[in-house]
Amino acid sequence: MIEGLPPPLPVSSRTWTFRAAEPDAGDGRRSPDVDLVHAWMHEPHVERWWHEAWPRQKWAEVVHAFRATKHALHTLPVLALSESMGAVAFLQVYRVPLDRVRPFYSYEEHDLGVHIAIGDEAKTNRKLGRSILRDTCLGLFAADPECRRVVAEPDADNVMSVRAFEAAGFRSEYTIELPEKTGLLMAFPRGEADSPLRRPAVSEAAP
Ligand SMILES: CC(C)(COP(=O)(O)OP(=O)(O)OC[C@H]1O[C@@H](n2cnc3c(N)ncnc32)[C@H](O)[C@@H]1OP(=O)(O)O)[C@@H](O)C(=O)NCCC(=O)NCCS
Repeated sequence: MIEGLPPPLPVSSRTWTFRAAEPDAGDGRRSPDVDLVHAWMHEPHVERWWHEAWPRQKWAEVVHAFRATKHALHTLPVLALSESMGAVAFLQVYRVPLDRVRPFYSYEEHDLGVHIAIGDEAKTNRKLGRSILRDTCLGLFAADPECRRVVAEPDADNVMSVRAFEAAGFRSEYTIELPEKTGLLMAFPRGEADSPLRRPAVSEAAP
């Protein structure tokens, strides 16, 4: 049973080190991770798709909540770092059974989802995103042997993101209507038997 467990941290690869983002210490000491995520969320190329250019205080609370409260069971905030470039991307790894994508397919208990943002625009469009996403999925499969798939729901209009997810190994499934966007539901299956996603039966989809 995964009940009561936070999402796993992807096992690091040869190229990418994954580590959980640290919240503020609570004794006045500011977390450099929160500073970084806050700055990245204000970058126009990130804000355009994430819509989370919040004040630092709110990001401090969000990162704290993801690590220390019941929200920690839903989402793990993660930084992807390389030896030569340092921190390149912010990821959120979430548990599908606790997420808003749950009504949109017949999920399994160990299914995970991922959001990604490369903070420095100069580092985008250099095939880093696909590399991070692929290693994230393989690292999650390694961290949880019972996880059969990792899903994502990029904005269907975010061509660059959809392309990067596909190049990483995600398969495009179908569009879903979310409050702020039409998302393209995508999935990275562990094996052929774990694909494609099944739409839920009407009884399963009921709230
Ligand atoms: C989305 C994101 C993670 C992708 O990572 P990336 O390293 O920039 O992407 P990659 O270089 O791996 O792939 C980009 C692809 O988009 C293509 N592309 C770029 N601009 C494009 C355009 N205007 N139209 C069509 N394709 C485009 C590139 O050619 C490349 O595909 P190809 O190499 O197969 O030809 C990164 O750009 C990012 O963080 N963006 C800002 C936040 C965001 O959008 N997050 C996603 C939310 S789900």
